[in-house]
Amino acid sequence: MPTRRMALRGAAALVAAGAAAGSGSATAAPQPIPFGSAAEIDTFRKDPRYREALTRYCDVIVPMNDLKWEALRHDQPRFDFSGADELVAFAEANRKSLRGHTLLWGEALPPWAKQMTTRAEAERELVNHIEIVVDRYKGRIATWDVVNEVIKNDPQPGEPYRDTIWQRLLGPEHVDIAFRTAARTDPKARLVLNDFHFEEPVPGAAARRKVALDICRRLKDKGIPVHGIGMQAHLYAEKGIDVDGLQRFMRDLDALDLDVEITELDVIDWKLPPDPGQRDKTAAALVSTFLGAVCSAKRPKAIVTWGLTDRYSWVHETFPRKDSARARPLPLDADYRPKPMLAVLEGYRRGTA
Ligand code: G3I
Repeated sequence: MPTRRMALRGAAALVAAGAAAGSGSATAAPQPIPFGSAAEIDTFRKDPRYREALTRYCDVIVPMNDLKWEALRHDQPRFDFSGADELVAFAEANRKSLRGHTLLWGEALPPWAKQMTTRAEAERELVNHIEIVVDRYKGRIATWDVVNEVIKNDPQPGEPYRDTIWQRLLGPEHVDIAFRTAARTDPKARLVLNDFHFEEPVPGAAARRKVALDICRRLKDKGIPVHGIGMQAHLYAEKGIDVDGLQRFMRDLDALDLDVEITELDVIDWKLPPDPGQRDKTAAALVSTFLGAVCSAKRPKAIVTWGLTDRYSWVHETFPRKDSARARPLPLDADYRPKPMLAVLEGYRRGTA
């Protein structure tokens, strides 16, 4: 039988949880948000600590490269599903959900795809690819990044799309064809438009948020299924977060009945002072600000980092520091030790943030 003191303590905890949820109600605790990571196949195969970390920390697994055209389609007639099948099997064996990345991208294409020359060829190859890949994982990959990075880096009015082989041969309809084909092939899959540079307090990010909404609105107006926007969230430590802009973006997504997912979260810390402990604190604070801005307005379907450990990250090679120190973009350090960022992510995973 709980004592009065225990009952009061319990009530206080509920009130605190309710306040944290911003719901105003003393009972509604924040909804836990599944956490996950991208998995790179060569590292997965060679490093047991990598596999152990994926098993220990993740609810969601995303094959980092093995569902891209470059990995699947070395030559035009043949599909190589070996890497994707291995990671999908690992996720299923460990009861993790799966995100598929990505059915259409202007990069990571095999040479033969870059040499397509006609609209008919591009449409035939795109539809065939999506039908075969989505059908293979139907009911197993729950969410697809149907298109990745189709928005121009600095979109201008009337010119929102990146210059890719798909845009050149099919025009804006390349997006429609991809979503329509994925929806027809797996009507139960959640279909996402995935892109980057939505987060910073600059006009370019606001313009990209608007273009993303416009694309999704156009799909919906044409009756083509789209379920959400994926924010890659490669956060630059020196650039800050547009809290108001992100909260408006979340409200705009709600108005279009769209979900949000955080799909490739990491922190690009190349401009930060050298002290590792300080860099980790700054990175954790930036992630906390970003997730606080998004999650206080709308709960993402998942929060996914682009890797788990600083030992393996695209950031180190792509954004080299002047002092040549290893980048520290992810929740675990290069020896798989938790950093302050992990506590921030675990808070959302447990539903205490
Ligand atoms: O697996 C082969 C290996 O067998 C070969 O020896 C080696 C050298 O040619 O290449 C290896 O494949 C590389 C692959 O990463 C695995 O390491 C590809 O060349 C390389 O292009 C590929 O880079 C990936 C990049 O996307 C392009 O696909 C990065 O790992 C991956 O982190 C990066 O992820 C992207 C997201 O998909 C989209 N958002 C941005 C993000 C970062 O660029």
